[in-house]
Amino acid sequence: MKALVLSGGSGTRLRPITHSFAKQLVPIANKPVLCYALEAIADAGISDVGIVVGDTAAEIMKAIGDGSTFGLRVTYIRQPHPLGLAHAVYIAREFLGQDDFVMYLGDNFVLGGIKELVAEFRRDRPAARILLTEVENPSLFGVAELDNAGNVVRLEEKPKVPSSPLALVGVYLFTPAVHEAVAAIKPSARGELEITDAIQWLIDEGHSVRPLIITGYWKDTGNVTDMLEANRAVLESAERRIDGKVDDASEVIGRVHIDEDARVRNSRIVGPVSIGPGTTITGSYLGPFTSVARDCRIENSEIEYSIVLPEASITGVGRIEASLIGRQVEVTSSAHTPSAHRFLLGDHSKVQIPS
Ligand code: TTP
Repeated sequence: MKALVLSGGSGTRLRPITHSFAKQLVPIANKPVLCYALEAIADAGISDVGIVVGDTAAEIMKAIGDGSTFGLRVTYIRQPHPLGLAHAVYIAREFLGQDDFVMYLGDNFVLGGIKELVAEFRRDRPAARILLTEVENPSLFGVAELDNAGNVVRLEEKPKVPSSPLALVGVYLFTPAVHEAVAAIKPSARGELEITDAIQWLIDEGHSVRPLIITGYWKDTGNVTDMLEANRAVLESAERRIDGKVDDASEVIGRVHIDEDARVRNSRIVGPVSIGPGTTITGSYLGPFTSVARDCRIENSEIEYSIVLPEASITGVGRIEASLIGRQVEVTSSAHTPSAHRFLLGDHSKVQIPS
């Protein structure tokens, strides 16, 4: 059995972060979201992994390398344009050969791994096994309609009027039967080869497609809200570990991880919080569910329920909440213009200021 991890795509929902950065590398509790997928795959006993990459190929290859740190053998498969999830399967057909495989969306986050799921698929081998979970806003996802007996009858990608609240989770298991499906379907109205259409083709041709409704934790981290939520969920189970330096004037409460070479001075840290190596926190408050990456500087500021990417600096800022701060971003206060906000914002930036 092999794995196919999709790490191309456009990442429009995470702009401007994705203008310069692969969304699969945005850290959740200071570890790229893609690493959680690779760990789950390794844990399920799969070692041959194809990673589909697009414009951000170089940084993904730099972060993951040959996969040996995960106990995996990684083959990179270049997708010239993000033409859809089924297109990714199509271009990977040589790598996949006649093997069964698990397809894992590289920006999806499933707590609890896929070990049992893979073991069960190896035993039963339906043409496809899909995971479904109930969501509040199904029109943002691929949606599955089941009959009374629990069989999948219809799949639809981002339907305007959803026929069910069951959304497809970004982990799929396939036998090689899917290759015929992927070759048979045509691009959708949005110009993509949809995996939902390929699975629908399997159903229409009489292949077995088995759903599994999961109630466990799943997030598609393609948007900021879900990314902060996934960060919260991981930090929730983190353990206290203080490897960096904390001075006597500081207070560190609860499950806080302070990495080597990080320094905390005259600050209050209330966990769960993760602080990356080389980061300094001075005269500040860090509140629950905050991850600050490596080599950041936070001074005289307050920040809670947020993710800060490497080398960012935040100075003299009253309170930041529910925010994703990009790499090398500077957030400062401007003492001379007390009633004005000053911005230098990249394309597609989003700012909320108290009205
Ligand atoms: P999506 O989040 O569905 O698509 P996207 O990356 O284009 O994002 P957005 O909707 O914000 O523009 O993709 C799910 C995963 O699959 C993600 O890790 C990117 C990857 N992907 C590919 O590798 N190739 C593709 O052609 C597409 C559409 C996605």
